[in-house]
Amino acid sequence: MLEGIQAVNKMQPKDYRLRVLIGREEIENTVARLAREISKDYHGKQPLLIGVLKGSFMFMADLIRHLDLPVEIDLIRLSSYGSGMESSGRVKVVQGLKASVKGRDVLIIEDIVDTGRTITFLLDYLRRRKPASLKLCSLTTKPSRHLVPVSFDYLGFTIPDKFIVGYGLDLAEMFRNLPDICVLDDDGPR
Ligand code: PRP
Repeated sequence: MLEGIQAVNKMQPKDYRLRVLIGREEIENTVARLAREISKDYHGKQPLLIGVLKGSFMFMADLIRHLDLPVEIDLIRLSSYGSGMESSGRVKVVQGLKASVKGRDVLIIEDIVDTGRTITFLLDYLRRRKPASLKLCSLTTKPSRHLVPVSFDYLGFTIPDKFIVGYGLDLAEMFRNLPDICVLDDDGPR
C-alpha cells in the first residue's frame, strides 16, 4: 500500500491520460439548477453553507454566485483519504468550523460522496451541535461505492465507479484546477 502511495506521489500530471466525463458547460448548467432549487427551498431564510475542504471549494464558489439568497459560509476540512486512490476509512477533522451551528439552517456542500463515510461522520458531527435544519448538497456521488446509506437533498451527478479528478477533485493533490470533471484512463499512467 505504502509503495502504491509513493508511486502516485512521484507521478506528474503529464504522466496521466485523462478523458472528460462531465464537461464545463454541463457542470455550469447543473450548478445553476442546484442553485435554483436551493434558492426556492430556503426562500426567506439565511442558511449557513458549510463547504467540505478541500474538494468542494470550486463547486461552492460557483454555486453561491448563482444563489438568490443571503447566505453565510463556513468551511470545514475533513480528510478520509491518504495520498493514494483508496479511502483510509478514518475521517478526521483537520480544520474545524468558526461559525456556530446551533439553531442555524445548515446546508453541507460536498464535491463527492464516495463510500459515504465522510458525510456520515459530518452529519453526525453537525447534528450533535443542534442546527435548526441540516441538509446535504453534493455535486457528485458514486452509488456503487456506498458502504453506508446516504440520502441527498440536492445532487448534481450520479457517476460510475471511476476515479474522477478536476473541478476541485484531486489525485494526490493534482488536477484540482481542471475546469472539467475527468476520469483517469483505464490504461493507467502513460
Ligand atoms: C473526498 C471528498 C469527500 C470524501 C468522500 O475528500 O471531498 O469529502 O473524499 O469520500 P467518502 O464518501 O469515501 O468518505 P478527501 O478526503 O479526498 O479530501 P480532499 O477534499 O481534501 O481531497
